[in-house]
Amino acid sequence: MIIEPRMRGFICLTAHPKGCEQNIINQINYIKSQGPIDGAKKVLVIGASTGFGLASRITSAFGSGASTIGVYFEKPPKEGKTASPGWYNTAAFETEANKAGLYAKSINGDAFSNEVKQQTIDLIKADLGQIDLIIYSLASPVRTNPNTGITHRSVLKPIGGSFTNKTVDFHTGIVSDVSIEPANEEEIENTIAVMGGEDWGMWIDALKAEKLLADGFTTVAYSYIGPAVTEAVYRKGTIGMAKNHLEATAFTITDKLADLKGKAYVSVNKALVTQASSAIPVIPLYISLLYKIMKEEGIHEGCIEQIGRLFKDRLYTNGDVPVDQEGRIRIDDWEMRDDVQARVATLWKDATTENLPAIGDLAGYKTDFLNLFGFDVAGVNYQADVNEMVDVPGLV
Ligand code: NAI
Ligand code: NA
Repeated sequence: MIIEPRMRGFICLTAHPKGCEQNIINQINYIKSQGPIDGAKKVLVIGASTGFGLASRITSAFGSGASTIGVYFEKPPKEGKTASPGWYNTAAFETEANKAGLYAKSINGDAFSNEVKQQTIDLIKADLGQIDLIIYSLASPVRTNPNTGITHRSVLKPIGGSFTNKTVDFHTGIVSDVSIEPANEEEIENTIAVMGGEDWGMWIDALKAEKLLADGFTTVAYSYIGPAVTEAVYRKGTIGMAKNHLEATAFTITDKLADLKGKAYVSVNKALVTQASSAIPVIPLYISLLYKIMKEEGIHEGCIEQIGRLFKDRLYTNGDVPVDQEGRIRIDDWEMRDDVQARVATLWKDATTENLPAIGDLAGYKTDFLNLFGFDVAGVNYQADVNEMVDVPGLV
């Protein structure tokens, strides 16, 4: 069928298999062009189908020749109805990995559940023996805690007082004020339950109990800090409390890994257009200003460039892993440069519907958003008939 983007709010209901495939090939080619990384050989990525997790899987496989297992939650295709993009991404990744002689298998299901953890344990036992690296890259609005059966929903709200600032609807380009009422205590707790570190810890405990973590094992989860303009809704808001919890969990996990001389890290990454970040108020306006400046400075990166740098210049340097005073890896260093942030702050005050296309990179934002779903990708013929019924070769 001919597949076109169908937008509803912050999501796109369709995805293009050929566009997703081209995105994967572009990311693989980028990683190969950067030369080999002396990294982990047996890698589990939780949240492996899109965004930073997908880039981590590609970097492990095509940078270090790793065998990879991916866990994700994606919608398979039905006749006449496309899959979600992460399905097509994974199909393309596993096809390319197999062509390169690399082991690549995956599990599609709820990573928060005991069942998916058990399935993963069984697969590791059967195929890989032990794991050297776990990347934890889930972004979800909801989590059912398997021990309590309680379903928690996260919110993106400020804490302590209402918050008003500018935002942009990136579909229409309209800049307006948004006001968000503060979260109550229960909403804060629920957001921590979904996006904090509890489930990360459960994964590590479950695999360690089965002796599936190798000596010198490493695990990394992803966090964000960002600028003053987004602080009230991000780092000092509900999601920030969850990120504080995630960051604290890294230390708890490291303590538990002492006998393996293992280590848990949090890497603070750059703001990027992903399905997760598009849904956060204020962030799209910030990203469109940030992109403009970082592109002008020649320091713009996408997920694959960020993760390539994380592996090459931070995790696998054959020296100590450089961290900040809080013990976090920082690959948001270019985003947070003083000169970059000073320019964003100035533009932020001026930004209007009329001038945003000129002072910000709204076009780049839109393209990146469409690219997430395999649309607007260079070299893809969108007039051609494509088969939506694509199989994921390594799906267990
Ligand atoms: P994303 O939405 O692109 O990826 C989320 C992944 O989680 C997908 O593979 C999805 O299938 C999987 N997933 C979601 N719910 C699941 C479930 N119940 N079971 C199994 N898999 C599930 O998100 P993105 O942006 O790559 O985020 C990953 C991490 O990076 C998050 O912790 C996020 O906070 C962090 N981060 C994101 C930044 C951004 O600007 N996008 C910046 C810095 C950190
Ligand atoms: Na991800």
